[in-house]
Amino acid sequence: MPGSTNPPPQTTVTDHVSDNAMASHPPWWQSIVAYQIYPRSFADSNGDGIGDIDGIRAHLDHLVWLGVDAIWLSPVYRSPMADFGYDISDHCDVDPLFGTLDDAKALIDEAHELGLRVIVDFVPNHTSDAHDWFRAARSSPDHPMRDWYIWRPPGPDGGPPNNWVASWGDTPAWTLDEASGEYYLHCFLSAQPDLNWANPEVVAAMHDVLRFWLDLGVDGFRADVVHLIGKDPALPDDDPDLLPIPHVALHHDPATHPLLADIRALLDAYPGDRMMVGEIYLLDTSLVAEYYGNGDELHLCFNFPPLYAPWDAGSWRRQIERTEAELGPRGAWPTWVLSNHDNPRHRTRYGGSEAIARAAAVLLLGLRGTPFLYAGEEIGMIDAEVPSEAVVDPGGRDGCRAPIPWTSDADHGWRGATPWLPFAPATEVTDVATQRDDPSSILHLYRRLIAARRASPALRSGSLSLLDVGARPAPGDTGTGAAAHHESVVAWRRVAGDDERVVMVNFSDRPQHVDGIDGTVEVATDASLEQRSFDGVVPPDGALVVRPART
Ligand code: GLC
Repeated sequence: MPGSTNPPPQTTVTDHVSDNAMASHPPWWQSIVAYQIYPRSFADSNGDGIGDIDGIRAHLDHLVWLGVDAIWLSPVYRSPMADFGYDISDHCDVDPLFGTLDDAKALIDEAHELGLRVIVDFVPNHTSDAHDWFRAARSSPDHPMRDWYIWRPPGPDGGPPNNWVASWGDTPAWTLDEASGEYYLHCFLSAQPDLNWANPEVVAAMHDVLRFWLDLGVDGFRADVVHLIGKDPALPDDDPDLLPIPHVALHHDPATHPLLADIRALLDAYPGDRMMVGEIYLLDTSLVAEYYGNGDELHLCFNFPPLYAPWDAGSWRRQIERTEAELGPRGAWPTWVLSNHDNPRHRTRYGGSEAIARAAAVLLLGLRGTPFLYAGEEIGMIDAEVPSEAVVDPGGRDGCRAPIPWTSDADHGWRGATPWLPFAPATEVTDVATQRDDPSSILHLYRRLIAARRASPALRSGSLSLLDVGARPAPGDTGTGAAAHHESVVAWRRVAGDDERVVMVNFSDRPQHVDGIDGTVEVATDASLEQRSFDGVVPPDGALVVRPART
C-alpha cells in the first residue's frame, strides 16, 4: 500500500506455533551459523600454493573472532583430484596435499576446544575410478565386487544404456569399459563411477566410513548429492524434453528414502548429537522437503532455489514464503545459503556491489533457518577472473574458488607461494587483516550480525512472519516508479517468547519509507545507524535489524 501512513504491519500466514516451543531448546544444528571451508583455497601452511589442514588450524582464531559455530570442510580425503577431492580413492585417509589423518584429528580436537563443531563432507554417490573398490569391480564381470558399481550392457543401438546426461560437458552419464563391453554409470566425471547402493555390501561399507569419522570425533556430515544414491534398477530414461539437464538435477527416486532413514538411525544411535545436512540438488523446494522424511531422514537439507533467485524483492519474498510453506508444516528446519564452491559467489551474481553484499548478509543471517556462509563471503569476495590457460576445473567453477586473501602483503598470507588459482581482482577485494582493522568493513558487519543472532533467541530460532510495511519512496522521489517500489522492501518479524526482532531488506537503490515499525536499530548495513531509534527509512541497497520498542 504505497503512500499510506502508519497502517499496522500485516502478518502473512507463515507463523508456526510449534516453533516458539522449539525455540527454547533447539538441537545444535538448528541454532548454528555454519561456515564452509574449501580447503584448497582457505589457507596454506607449507608454501605449495594449495591450502591444507594445518592452514585451517592456523586460522581457527579468525572463525572464533567472527563468531561462527561450526565449520564444514569440503573433502580432504585421498583423491586423484579429478574433481578436486569429490573423487575419493580412500575414504579413511587424508590426501597428502592436505596433511595427514593426525592433522585432521588435531583440527577436530582444536576446533572443539574452541567451541566449534566440525562437519565433514561425505561423498556417498560415487568414488574415484582409482578407488580399490572400483579397480576390483572393473577387473572382471565375475569379480565379487563387480556389483558395487552400476554396470549395464550397451543399449539397443550399441550406445549408452539410457539417456542420462552427466554433469558438465553435455556428455552421457556412461563410459564403456572396453575390456568387458559393459558401460558403467557416472553422474559426474567418468573418473567418478556411481556406487550401487542397492548392494547391501556397499551400504555396509559406506556406513563404516561414517563410523570411522564419527569415531574420529566429527559432529556431522555434509552429504554430497545424496538424493542420487537410491536408483530404480530399471534406470528409466529421463524425459527427453528435459535433456540436456544433467541427470543429477532430475533424479528423484523413492529408493533413496530408506537409505537415508538407515543413515539417520546410525547417526541417532551414535553417542553425542551427530547430524547430516544433505545436498539435494533439486530445484524445487517441495521436493527438497521430502528428504527430511518425517523427521527420520536428513536433519537438514540444502535448498538451492533461493541461491538461484535474482536479487529482487518479489523473488525473495516468494522464496521465503515457499520455504516456510513447504518446510514449516513438516516441522522441517530450513537452511539458507547464498554461495558455495559450485556457483559464482553471490556478490558476483548480484552485480558486484558491496552495498548489496551487505544487504544480502542481513538477509541470510536474519532468516529462519540455519545459515551456511562460504569462506570469503564475510569479506565480500567476488569471483576471480581465471584466464583460459589457468582454468583447472572441468565444471567451470574456478572463479568462486579463489584463495582467501588473509593479509595485504604481496602474497596475501600464502607463504610466498603462487596459489593454485588467481586471487579475486585486487581492487574489489580487501583482505581479512585490513578489514579487521576497519570497524566499518563488511567483515565487521558479518561479525555484528552473527553476535546479534547468537544473543537473540528470536533471530536464532524464533518464528518468522512476513510483514507488509507499505514501503514507498521518499516524497518527490519518482526514481523508478511507484509500482516498482511496492515490492522493494522485504520485511519480516522473528519471535521467540518475548524476544522479538524485525528485519528489513531494501532491494532498491532508493531510500524506502516504511510504516508501523518502532524500535532501536540493532544491526545495519551502515554501522552509523546502529543503536539509534529507527527513523522509518530503510537505506538504499541497505538492510536493518530492529529491536521493537516495548509496548
Ligand atoms: C557436488 C559437489 C561438487 C561436486 C559434485 C560431485 O555437487 O558440491 O563440488 O563436483 O557434487 O561430487
